[in-house]
Amino acid sequence: MIAYQTTPIESRRQAIQADIDGRKSAAERNRLGQFATPNALAIEIARYVESLIGQGQDRIRFADPSIGSGSFFSAALAVFGPKRIATAVGIELDPVFADCARSLWADTGLEIVQGDFTQVVASGSRPPAPNVILANPPYVRHHHMNRECKERLQSLAFKMAGVEVSGLAGLYVYFLLLATAWMEEGGIAAWLIPSEFMDVNYGAALKDFLTNRVTLIRAHRFDPDDVQFGDALVSSVVLVFRNTPPANAHAVEFTFGGTLAEPNARDLIPLERLRDSRKWTAYPSHTKNDRHTISDGKGPTLGDFFRVQRGIATGCNKFFVIDRADAKGRGLPGKYLRPILPSPRHLTDTIINTDSDGYPLIDPQLCVIDCDLPEPIVEAQYPALWKYLQTAQSLGIMEGYLIGKRSPWYKQERREPPLFLCTYMGRGSNDKQPFRFIWNRSKAIGTNLYLMLHARDGLAAMLRRHPDRAEIIHALLGRVTGHELRGEGRVYGGGLNKIEPSELARISAISFVDLWPELGSNVQPQGNLFD
Ligand SMILES: C[S@@+](CC[C@H](N)C(=O)[O-])C[C@H]1O[C@@H](n2cnc3c(N)ncnc32)[C@H](O)[C@@H]1O
Repeated sequence: MIAYQTTPIESRRQAIQADIDGRKSAAERNRLGQFATPNALAIEIARYVESLIGQGQDRIRFADPSIGSGSFFSAALAVFGPKRIATAVGIELDPVFADCARSLWADTGLEIVQGDFTQVVASGSRPPAPNVILANPPYVRHHHMNRECKERLQSLAFKMAGVEVSGLAGLYVYFLLLATAWMEEGGIAAWLIPSEFMDVNYGAALKDFLTNRVTLIRAHRFDPDDVQFGDALVSSVVLVFRNTPPANAHAVEFTFGGTLAEPNARDLIPLERLRDSRKWTAYPSHTKNDRHTISDGKGPTLGDFFRVQRGIATGCNKFFVIDRADAKGRGLPGKYLRPILPSPRHLTDTIINTDSDGYPLIDPQLCVIDCDLPEPIVEAQYPALWKYLQTAQSLGIMEGYLIGKRSPWYKQERREPPLFLCTYMGRGSNDKQPFRFIWNRSKAIGTNLYLMLHARDGLAAMLRRHPDRAEIIHALLGRVTGHELRGEGRVYGGGLNKIEPSELARISAISFVDLWPELGSNVQPQGNLFD
């Protein structure tokens, strides 16, 4: 394999990039998604693209829609060679990076357009269509995009690409769709983007686009333990596709871990199967990819036996969750205090025993203030509680979103104590469960660091008849594999896993039915619900 020497200009680019990054705050970099592609990775991607276009293609019209200082252009020069690059254009919103790229690459024929790519690409004066796109777009999340911006992008994506994008999609989804609409038919594009879209509902439109409108050739997912962008908390995937509709029998190469040239695992997935797959991170199905799902969503799943809910969001745990002894010392009325579990970090055991008042037998015992009386009544009847509530003003928590929405502002969401809980985030690889299942024998509820599992229907009835079976259920939950939990949940850079209620509800519960076949009779296969 050819080794590429770092050219003097590439060394200068890296130094200037580091200098600009160093002068910007993290918040500023996040706002514009400014995390440059390490040049070695850009070269690897360019090499792969080169292997697809072959030596025959000698009129490369290169584009990077968010060029930054030009890591990808530098890689294109190194891999394709300057003679084969007929034209090259980079768009960049930030004038600092636009100027930097312009001056660095002035002698190479690279044209820099300073502006917002999503506006440039929609304008009559956009640059001619490229046939090779190498891109690492800004990973700006949807909550950092205001409503007008989202509406403009949604209608543009529909107009230019015929795709209806969910309002939850990040900016990178629009970049990919708009840039593909701009590029030449038959051209090749490589995109380094967050892998999140592969699993979540808002990714459906992009997945549909990738399986029906373009020919997806390769999807390489990096191992989340190997963070590509030290400080960008997402795991990434490289997508490479040809801008032409796919052949019926087409199969996509999914790879995982290692490098693009030498992945740790690979699998060819026929388009037909991919179109029906909810979670793309399950591919390649190989022991080294620890994200396979066992359940196909067709039941029985935990959702058939449990109502799964996030624990309560108090709006300010520091204020609402207090030590029970402290609450007693302040004279707060017991009937407006509810037992609550400490953060999972402080929970050493997965079985919570109870005292005679329903408080967990752990130290310290915590309670949450939860009162539905109007303020004048609290003031008149419960002066100690009133006095405590007054301290909220000086803590500045009254402006919080949740607190502002509640009436009265110290009333919590209604939640019954759950028999089981599952921690909401955690780490773990291979067989180790990233989340812990807790058997709660107390009357405590959990904060939103937990998911709460309330037995329902057949399982609830069985538990009423045989309360002793709770212990077996806890053991069955403890046997859900780490692979399956990670497969249903989502993973962030650095290997932090999270699982949402709907994801936990999709975990297979076949072991419950194997043990108690009578439970199977009232499980509706999900598909039947829609027949
Ligand atoms: C993730 S960085 C990648 C930079 C470069 N392509 C690379 O691979 O190193 C994304 C770049 O997009 C720029 N950017 C953010 N919003 C943009 C927009 N709306 N139009 C064009 N560029 C944008 C940022 O300033 C940043 O330089």
